[in-house]
Amino acid sequence: MRGVFISLEGAEGCGKSTQSALLADFLRVKGLEVVTTREPGGTPTGEMIRDILQHHASGEDIAPGAEVLLFAASRAQHVAHVIRPALERGDWVVCDRFVDSSLAYQGGARGLGIDTVLAANEIALDGVWPDVTFWLDLPLDAALGRVVARGAHPDRFESEETAFHQRVHDAYAALAVRFPERIVRLNAAAAPEAVFAELLEGLEPNLETEG
Ligand code: TYD
Repeated sequence: MRGVFISLEGAEGCGKSTQSALLADFLRVKGLEVVTTREPGGTPTGEMIRDILQHHASGEDIAPGAEVLLFAASRAQHVAHVIRPALERGDWVVCDRFVDSSLAYQGGARGLGIDTVLAANEIALDGVWPDVTFWLDLPLDAALGRVVARGAHPDRFESEETAFHQRVHDAYAALAVRFPERIVRLNAAAAPEAVFAELLEGLEPNLETEG
């Protein structure tokens, strides 16, 4: 039987990695095989692409089209080498960011358009869509506050202006309307345990199938 593919999405600082860790632990305690992974990255080649995208060593501007295709290239490798094989083994896959990040950041915030970015990702996805996507929805102020509190050196995306992050948020909201059967919105402003309880409610149908 094919495994279950879960992706987690949202702005920087929304708590995706905390929820991903809680979910993986929960599933493992139930005796399920779980693969946790992330984008950009998830494979050695993908990590190299992540480095190009985030640290921008050449000093040259990356054109929006190049950006979307680099993310898609990383995703193609990730689907072929990690996600599809795991699902074929019957494992659960918990992925921190997936195609909706490209749809929200490149499609929405960078203005390429969601349909264009969807088309650019067809080769990468090769028909592999998440069964359920949790969108950790955090008001913009709270998200930016959390990123600053982390104190990390901002990468290329984190140093974007507020309007960019607002467009990312708006695009996620539009995606939740467009894909209501797949995307579950969570109130990420709540405490981590409360967010996780809401996540588990959203996962109920998939857990029932598992038996
Ligand atoms: P990362 O350090 O992984 O951020 P986070 O901890 O928030 O996940 O950086 C990933 C950045 O890349 C993040 O700003 C979102 C962006 N991104 C895209 O623009 N498009 C994509 O397809 C993906 C996967 C990420």
